[in-house]
Amino acid sequence: MQENIYAEEYSEIIKNITASGKKYYIFTIGCQLNENDSEKIAGILSALGCIKSESAERSDIIIYNTCAVRENAEKKVFGHLGKLKKLKEDNPKLILGLCGCMMNQPASVEKVRNKYKHVDIIFGTQNIHLLPEILFKHISENKRVFDVQNTQEIIREGLPVIHEDDLKAWVTVIYGCNNYCTYCIVPYVRGKERSRKTQDILKEIRELSDKGYKEITLLGQNVNSYGKDLEEHTDFAELLYNINEIQGIERIRFMTSHPKDISEKLISVIKDCRKVCKHLHLPLQSGSTKVLSAMNRHYTGEQYLDITDRVRTKIPDISLTTDIIVGFPGETDRDFADTLAIMKSVRFDSAFTFKYSKRTGTPAARMQEQIPSEIIDRRFLELLEVQNKISREKNEEMIGSVVEVLVEGISKKNPLYLTGRSEGNKVVNFPGDTGFRGRILPVKINRVQTWSLEGNLIKTGERSN
Ligand code: SAH
Ligand code: SF4
Ligand code: F3S
Repeated sequence: MQENIYAEEYSEIIKNITASGKKYYIFTIGCQLNENDSEKIAGILSALGCIKSESAERSDIIIYNTCAVRENAEKKVFGHLGKLKKLKEDNPKLILGLCGCMMNQPASVEKVRNKYKHVDIIFGTQNIHLLPEILFKHISENKRVFDVQNTQEIIREGLPVIHEDDLKAWVTVIYGCNNYCTYCIVPYVRGKERSRKTQDILKEIRELSDKGYKEITLLGQNVNSYGKDLEEHTDFAELLYNINEIQGIERIRFMTSHPKDISEKLISVIKDCRKVCKHLHLPLQSGSTKVLSAMNRHYTGEQYLDITDRVRTKIPDISLTTDIIVGFPGETDRDFADTLAIMKSVRFDSAFTFKYSKRTGTPAARMQEQIPSEIIDRRFLELLEVQNKISREKNEEMIGSVVEVLVEGISKKNPLYLTGRSEGNKVVNFPGDTGFRGRILPVKINRVQTWSLEGNLIKTGERSN
């Protein structure tokens, strides 16, 4: 198995320098791509003989996987680094590492180099595979090791992975982003789009299926770009079609899709493939065509509405979710009203809403007419209120209907209830036996909240819809 090949290559040298048996703790900030990278870091550490720890305080290695998408995410890291200084003072042998998107920004690396001297190792988003050498160098030479160069842009297949869950797994299918939305730092820290070969993805998913995984989520900053850079003639719709054929996998999710790249073929594949969940996360960002153009999004408000209409015509029960940014430079009350109008017209099942955050190095950071924070705060609250009402109403419409739920385990809020997600990705809680974990069962909805649904299991044959 590939996991062992990797381990063999490195474990001996690392064991010799006593990384073996060390307890590690990984703290992840950011999106699912980062979560998936953390699973690979866990895989590498464990292949080196390290043991996962449940607490940072009792660990020998602490790795922070960072995010640079908004200022808050960055502040969080520096806040934590301050606190970790104490841990390092108490235990000078503690190895403190930083990786992730912030570490692909030279200014952040320099700040850590000069001001946070208790950080021992740093590696960039494309250098995860170098972790064994980096650790080796740090331990054997007793010096700080910063390895953030990312010029190669090679996809590293076969890294060991320790998945957080044993039912649902993330599978990154395309790295990087070519879109350069003017507000966004991601293309600068994650590099250009690189698709994995279809055969590598299918192999990984078949192995997940063999291990008993039921659901996989395909990840990428823009999954619809999948295949454009490959020699093989393929696209994202083909990939979904192929994964749908894999025995054992029961659900396929994917995110994120860019509206400019939604094809009729893709809509048909979502409709026709039984295992592909009827859920589309389609970031709108703004409802104003003027703002969308300044964002470099390549669609108008009308075109967005046309896409969602076409999707709903073909797949009436599809769940639609989105991302919205308020307060992009130059956004007027009128532009914001356009966003609210599209929200009310599409009626998303849910939305991630963000206050615009200025990212140094992006074109939007240099734009005139940055919006004052009071106005951003006001618009943000109004947007939230509108969306929360819609989310709740959409959930209320589901009362009496039956949804298929992949049972994940006992509900954290109520130990008498099980919890899982519907095909549309809504949390569903219901009374039931813990032995149902891992099964997909029909639940009739009888109560709802803004963020979740509640119901009862029904027996097959009892269905009304
Ligand atoms: N590739 C995805 C997601 C990128 S990051 C996409 O294109 O939609 C997730 C979300 O963060 C984005 O959809 C956007 O809504 C938000 N975001 C990105 N940069 C931001 C910024 N500078 N300020 C506020 N929100 C931002
Ligand atoms: Fe950022 Fe736009 Fe790429 Fe998404 S598509 S990661 S928002 S540049
Ligand atoms: Fe953040 Fe990097 Fe994801 S910037 S949102 S962790 S790709």
